[in-house]
Amino acid sequence: MSELVIDNVWQSYDEQVVLEGLHLRVCGPEFCAIVGASGCGKSTFLRLLLGQEQPSRGRILLDGEPLPREPGPDRGVVFQQYSVFPHLTVLENAMFGLELQRRRWDVRIGGRLWGRARGEVREQAEQALAQVGLSGARDKYPALLSGGMRQRLSLAQSIVTRPKILLLDEPFGALDPGVRSDMHELVLRLWEEHRMCVFLVTHDIAEGFKLGTRLLVFDRLRRDPQAPQAFGATITYDLPLRRLTAEGAAAQRRDRSVAAAG
Ligand SMILES: Nc1ncnc2c1ncn2[C@@H]1O[C@H](COP(=O)(O)OP(=O)(O)OP(=O)(O)O)[C@@H](O)[C@H]1O
Ligand SMILES: [Mg+2]
Repeated sequence: MSELVIDNVWQSYDEQVVLEGLHLRVCGPEFCAIVGASGCGKSTFLRLLLGQEQPSRGRILLDGEPLPREPGPDRGVVFQQYSVFPHLTVLENAMFGLELQRRRWDVRIGGRLWGRARGEVREQAEQALAQVGLSGARDKYPALLSGGMRQRLSLAQSIVTRPKILLLDEPFGALDPGVRSDMHELVLRLWEEHRMCVFLVTHDIAEGFKLGTRLLVFDRLRRDPQAPQAFGATITYDLPLRRLTAEGAAAQRRDRSVAAAG
């Protein structure tokens, strides 16, 4: 069970304060939906959680330890724009993160994994593809996939290392409504199965209410028309949506599908 603590975090770029005084504590497998005006710093917040950037002030602790100063396998990420590698097949894309992780610690022969190590990586990648429903497309290249399938592949890439935290930055924004609804089911199922803490940035408040156990609203509390860059956004509301554990969410989904079948 992971605990994430955001302790008085600020982020500024030169003279521009983007985020100020963020405080947040998230324990265990919560699903935090994040909403806020365009440009208020939601993606910046995710980059801080990813370790891609360091806060200008304050601390981020994961299980009591400062967050590593670079992205790692304990944090997965999916962006709105497809982030899969076009020159790799679906399976190779799913294997990529694990190979990178293993290569750091494991056998390195000619820069490639081989033998048992590669077999294990392949097996884990195939499991992740099965979880997102892409087993049948394992040998295809991303150019042949629909937008929804590419986002499924991005999800497979980000869960294959079994992260404690999954960061989703408007991952469904470019998808058709029907596909988006399938992706909602998928992401809830992955959240239940992996028991990770999810942060989902969305411009669709209904999506936030549907998926989140908690809704975080980012906004500026202070504004100075003479100095628009002087103040940043903070978490103005932290609303509990449903006090659900992952098991509770699974039971609720089972009830819904029984009701739909009846
Ligand atoms: N690396 C950077 N250098 C300078 N300014 C930056 C950098 N990253 C973000 N900003 C600025 O920080 C502000 C917040 O950007 P951010 O992308 O986090 O907003 P957002 O809430 O995700 O917006 P949107 O909803 O449009 O995606 C913007 O004014 C942006 O220009
Ligand atoms: Mg953004």
